[in-house]
Amino acid sequence: MAKLNVVGIGPGSLDYVTPAARKTVQNADVVIGAERSLRLFRKDIKGEAVALTAKNVPEILEYAAESVEKGKTVTLLSTGDPGFSGLLRSILKYTRGRDVEVNVVAGVSAIQACAARLCMCWDEMSLFSFHKGTTAEKKAQLSKAVKEGKDIMLLPDPKAFPPREIASFLVKAGLAKETPVFVCERLTLSDERVVESTLERVAALDFDALCVMVIKVNQKQEGEN
Ligand SMILES: C[S@@+](CC[C@H](N)C(=O)[O-])C[C@H]1O[C@@H](n2cnc3c(N)ncnc32)[C@H](O)[C@@H]1O
Repeated sequence: MAKLNVVGIGPGSLDYVTPAARKTVQNADVVIGAERSLRLFRKDIKGEAVALTAKNVPEILEYAAESVEKGKTVTLLSTGDPGFSGLLRSILKYTRGRDVEVNVVAGVSAIQACAARLCMCWDEMSLFSFHKGTTAEKKAQLSKAVKEGKDIMLLPDPKAFPPREIASFLVKAGLAKETPVFVCERLTLSDERVVESTLERVAALDFDALCVMVIKVNQKQEGEN
């Protein structure tokens, strides 16, 4: 059966594209992704390249599913890892109940790249993504995790809940203004930037839309018991 491959392509640098991702692209009849993602694979794409934009997602995901039903192998490029605020959730909606086998190829998430960049273990952190929208319920979950003393790593919502709004929200929720915060922008790219600051200062700053935010609620150093 032809497959619909959902491939994680890492945080942006070619150095973080896996050989498995490249092979899957090389073997595809149709490769779908944002312009920036397609550019990363320009030497590997042998089939049809289809650009995904903010405006054409429903049509293109339907085209992906239909192409597989017609016997074509389709590869969908998803930044980072497809399962963390990536394209996996959306494509599963289009393929549910259809004769389409979905195969996921893991990628390096911006979350992983951020933890590595800051030399932090992330197995005990609370992870949040506001990328697909910011609800009162999600904000309440964030404030609960903070009150429980958990370190937080999150993807902000670049428009509705950027780092400065998150910082203000957490100060209003009762977290100390001096709480350490890291904002990692454009990870793995040539203009990567890591800002180490506090909640109070971040509440007055703007950051690149491509960023991961870490709130160090727990003051223990890495490696300390
Ligand atoms: C649609 S989500 C995709 C997340 C992706 N699936 C992952 O696992 O990293 C896009 C968000 O991921 C984060 N992001 C993606 N690439 C990044 C990078 N190179 N540096 C910092 N943050 C990044 C930003 O918060 C961005 O708004």
